[in-house]
Amino acid sequence: MTARFITLEGIEGAGKSTLAKFVLAYLAQRQIPGRLTREPGGTPLAERIRQLVLERGAERLSPVTETLLMFAARDLHLEHVIRPALARGEWVVCDRFTDATRAYQGSGRGVDSDLIESLAAAVHGGLAPDCTLLLDLPVNVGLARVRGRAAGNSDRFEAETQAFFEKVRAGYLELARREPGRFHVIDAAAPLDAVEGRVERILEDLE
Ligand code: TMP
Repeated sequence: MTARFITLEGIEGAGKSTLAKFVLAYLAQRQIPGRLTREPGGTPLAERIRQLVLERGAERLSPVTETLLMFAARDLHLEHVIRPALARGEWVVCDRFTDATRAYQGSGRGVDSDLIESLAAAVHGGLAPDCTLLLDLPVNVGLARVRGRAAGNSDRFEAETQAFFEKVRAGYLELARREPGRFHVIDAAAPLDAVEGRVERILEDLE
């Protein structure tokens, strides 16, 4: 069986972590080797880059710097985790990947899509997710979930405005519209068993 590269996307509070656990449990049940990882992060150095981009420091990060840091972390992650795991035949389940850069830095911050696509081609030309599960829900619902959890300690993204997340959400939905074969848009406001049932059918089709 060919290893698959599955990515999970969505705005904050959409339920990616819960879904990630469900996907891993699905794979384990079928004795399919699976590896859960995340971006930005997934290697020791990439996790340090994650801290840099998420912390609310005094120095402003420009949208281009933010984009470059995301791709620097991604390059490390691909070299040390994603490509080796896929080569060993493991299914890689990645909590966010380049679609997050397209949605957050591209649609949210207004970074030129040509820059993003040329960095994507340089860092992982020839490698794209086999399947992207986009958890979609209204921004106010997602933000209420996250801000309840963060209790005043929100990171640089969680502290963003509703208008920013509306652009991110619209960006994701546009990406899904352009690549309907790869993207599956899942209603994250639906009951958990409905979400999991839908995802189970998608995974069955990937096997
Ligand atoms: P997480 O909270 O889902 O782990 O993601 C961390 C934050 O990083 C989240 O707010 C989205 C943001 N992000 C980007 O802005 N661009 C990217 O390319 C990635 C991978 C994440």
